[in-house]
Amino acid sequence: MLEIKNLHVAIEDGSKKILNGLNLTVHNGEVAAIMGPNGSGKSTLSYVIAGKPDYEVLDGEILLDGRNILDLEPNERAAAGIFLAFQYPIEIPGVATMTFLKAALNAQLKEKGQDVLTTPEFMRRTFAAADKLEINRDMLKRALNVGFSGGEKKRMEILQMALLEPKICILDETDSGLDIDALRIVSEGVNALRSPDRGFLVITHYQRLLNHIVPDVVHVMNAGRIVKSGGKELALELEANGYRDYQTAA
Ligand SMILES: Nc1ncnc2c1ncn2[C@@H]1O[C@H](COP(=O)(O)OP(=O)(O)OP(=O)(O)O)[C@@H](O)[C@H]1O
Ligand SMILES: [Mg+2]
Repeated sequence: MLEIKNLHVAIEDGSKKILNGLNLTVHNGEVAAIMGPNGSGKSTLSYVIAGKPDYEVLDGEILLDGRNILDLEPNERAAAGIFLAFQYPIEIPGVATMTFLKAALNAQLKEKGQDVLTTPEFMRRTFAAADKLEINRDMLKRALNVGFSGGEKKRMEILQMALLEPKICILDETDSGLDIDALRIVSEGVNALRSPDRGFLVITHYQRLLNHIVPDVVHVMNAGRIVKSGGKELALELEANGYRDYQTAA
């Protein structure tokens, strides 16, 4: 379970406050969607949970299964089970995707005190996950995300998620840039990972994704806090009416 309590965050030089007393709980087994206008702080929230260093937490707590993770390094948070699929996945020239995936997975296993995978076992798992996501095996030999299309990058994020088996999966606009078939394939990949001991935070602008990944709860974010929570019908209401009712509330 992920619990965020009274989170206040500014960018590191203190020039701008982005999160303003945000409260949010993601229960195990739950898919929580976050919707909200551009600039409301959704990506910032995902970065702060994952431990990106450019932000200063002024107040509040982020608890994973009751343990405050704010003092942990990003790699320690990853080992604890936090995963972020980026809105804009990063290109890593010179590092083959396969090499990256193996390093990421083994680093986490080591951090958890578990044995690293043998190469054949790693290859077996990776190919199985790639096949499900219809990721061509030739792509795994290429440098990570370099020259990948927008949709290919998003699939690669989900492949990483499938391999790492996180406790809390944060998807930041994973649907943006996906064609209709890719949206279905990626959604199936996400749905296959739904489990009673895993929570999802799905950031999206479009109700359509939520037809594929049906959320248990929808939260509306505005001006750095959650201003409304409801069931999946809330996404339909937003689609029809926009954010006007919630912008005044903030
Ligand atoms: N490093 C930074 N320096 C200056 N401003 C920043 C920085 N990071 C975020 N911001 C600002 O904080 C606000 C929130 O940004 P954020 O990316 O979290 O929004 P968002 O809700 O994800 O928007 P979108 O829906 O467009 O992805 C924006 O106004 C953004 O310009
Ligand atoms: Mg964003």
